[in-house]
Amino acid sequence: MLEKREGAKFGRSLVATLVIVLMMPWMVQAQGEPKTGDHALGTIPYDKYDTPEYCGASCHTDFYQQWRQAMMSQAYTHHWDEIEYFKLAVPHAEKDSMVAGVKAGCNGCHAPISFLAGDVPPPRPEANSRANESVSCDLCHTVIGHSGDTPYNFNFIASPGNKKYGPRDQGASPAHEMVKSDFLSKAEFCGVCHNEMSPYGVWVKSTHLEWKEGPYAAEGVPCHKCHMTYAPMETASMGTKYPDARQHLFHGAHDLGKVRGTIELRIHPDIREAEPGETVKLTCALFNQKTGHKFPTGSVEDRILWLHVEAKDAAGKVYHLKVDPKGFEGEEYTIASDVLAYQDMGIALNDPNFAGVQRDGVPVGDRIFRMPYFDPQGRMTIQQWNTKSLGVDYRLGPRETKLETFTFALPIETAPGEMTITATLNYQKLVKPVADFLEVPDDEEEIMEVNSHSTVINVLP
Ligand code: HEC
Ligand code: HEC
Ligand code: HEC
Ligand code: HEC
Repeated sequence: MLEKREGAKFGRSLVATLVIVLMMPWMVQAQGEPKTGDHALGTIPYDKYDTPEYCGASCHTDFYQQWRQAMMSQAYTHHWDEIEYFKLAVPHAEKDSMVAGVKAGCNGCHAPISFLAGDVPPPRPEANSRANESVSCDLCHTVIGHSGDTPYNFNFIASPGNKKYGPRDQGASPAHEMVKSDFLSKAEFCGVCHNEMSPYGVWVKSTHLEWKEGPYAAEGVPCHKCHMTYAPMETASMGTKYPDARQHLFHGAHDLGKVRGTIELRIHPDIREAEPGETVKLTCALFNQKTGHKFPTGSVEDRILWLHVEAKDAAGKVYHLKVDPKGFEGEEYTIASDVLAYQDMGIALNDPNFAGVQRDGVPVGDRIFRMPYFDPQGRMTIQQWNTKSLGVDYRLGPRETKLETFTFALPIETAPGEMTITATLNYQKLVKPVADFLEVPDDEEEIMEVNSHSTVINVLP
């Protein structure tokens, strides 16, 4: 009898234990396991976030004006973002279940408070909704960490409220509590949006990962040291003056001053005197002096960086020099040519037989520093969400030097006298044929000169 009762009791407690064990994951989630990335959709209403005007109208006036001029405040409203999201990403997501998630997901980084509010797709920028706040003060200043091991795909932990996180524990604010955060001063904070994985599991944005494997991470120089530089300033009106106030510049590819001089160029010939018909070999050294990651980085699928070399003889006649191929795998994507690409734009545009547009739109034979992105059919794409594989990575790493050679047989008609050979490195934020095709305003395809250098040879009569 007794034995039986004991047995029943043991059985009951076993069941109870089992129930608890089985429910554990659910209980942890229910107890406030933070929802991040795709799971955070619709979890936080708009009114939990203060507007940038609230932060900046009378207190943080300088930071507010800096932020207004940075791409951070235009991540949703900027014309090319609007075009790519509404013309390509949204229609594509509606047709192809593999990429359906981007309809909401683009906003996780570009209009994060709309994503959190579940307001996706958000109203167009012209509607002037809260999506237009883009990456706002309060979004960043209430992030307390990220989930998982690697920051990517907006896996930040959002904790909006009266506690504002920042770099200091001293000081006081009449408007909110101030809490010191080590996380905000780390590169990993930036990585939550500056690393992106496509629905096919490919790293289509890896600025933080590139930084992490480069020399600046090893030396303890985070993103902030180049994009949020320190200067003496009062960080709020009537606040304390700090010697190292974090400037909210966030300047990058949209600032010619930031891009200019990123790479240093030097070109030299193997011989200084030559007759028409003779061959001269020129070598150009390109040294990445300025970036903490690769160049180009970020939206690598859009950007084009190319080296153009020209010789001008004493009579003013100009000759275009083509780069010598090196013979590595995938090199054809790094030498400008007259081929079509980007056919997958046809999916969103209801034109399945779309032939594509010119791949490069720069002089044929010029060297291009890039990493091509390929769609599931193996065609080159500017749609990072439709990227299934990557090609050769021929970009310039931090502090890397690449050498390019140009073998030039002087034409018989070359005028005798001084011949100047000039190497120019140019940059465009969006390949011109794509910008023209999608009617993206001109500033996105403006040619930014990164650097140039010249050398001379003497052409003998
Ligand atoms: C040593 C200085 C330095 C460090 C460190 C650095 N950057 Fe940069 N960054 C630059 C320079 C210079 C440019 C401009 C050239 C270019 O566009 O790459 C740039 C450009 C960028 C761009 C614009 C790229 C584009 O094509 O639009 C982004 C985004 C960026 N950086 C983010 C970061 C992030 C995130 C980190 C940290 C993980 C970081 N940077 C670390 C110097 C730095
Ligand atoms: C992209 C994220 C981001 C945005 C947007 C942003 N901040 Fe910051 N802010 C930071 C980071 C990161 C730091 C701290 C940097 C560090 O620790 O090195 C910081 C520091 C500050 C500080 C303290 C500065 C100091 O040196 O004591 C203030 C104040 C501040 N931000 C206010 C604002 C205001 C106001 C806005 C909007 C107009 C804003 N921030 C927008 C990321 C952001
Ligand atoms: C919540 C997401 C988010 C976080 C966090 C974030 N960024 Fe960004 N950042 C963006 C988006 C989105 C853009 C692109 C804006 C555009 O051009 O549409 C951007 C643009 C930039 C640019 C300008 C690039 C250009 O083309 O000119 C720089 C530089 C930059 N971020 C640096 C940083 C740094 C440094 C940090 C960390 C201190 C950081 N970002 C944190 C989302 C974020
Ligand atoms: C994980 C965060 C993240 C996601 C998700 C994301 N982006 Fe971005 N996006 C960025 C950052 C950061 C930049 C700036 C990188 C740089 O400067 O090169 C950027 C840049 C861009 C640019 C170039 C802006 C310019 O002015 O040159 C466009 C266009 C863009 N994104 C559109 C989209 C679309 C459309 C989607 C969805 C399919 C999307 N993004 C998803 C973070 C993200």
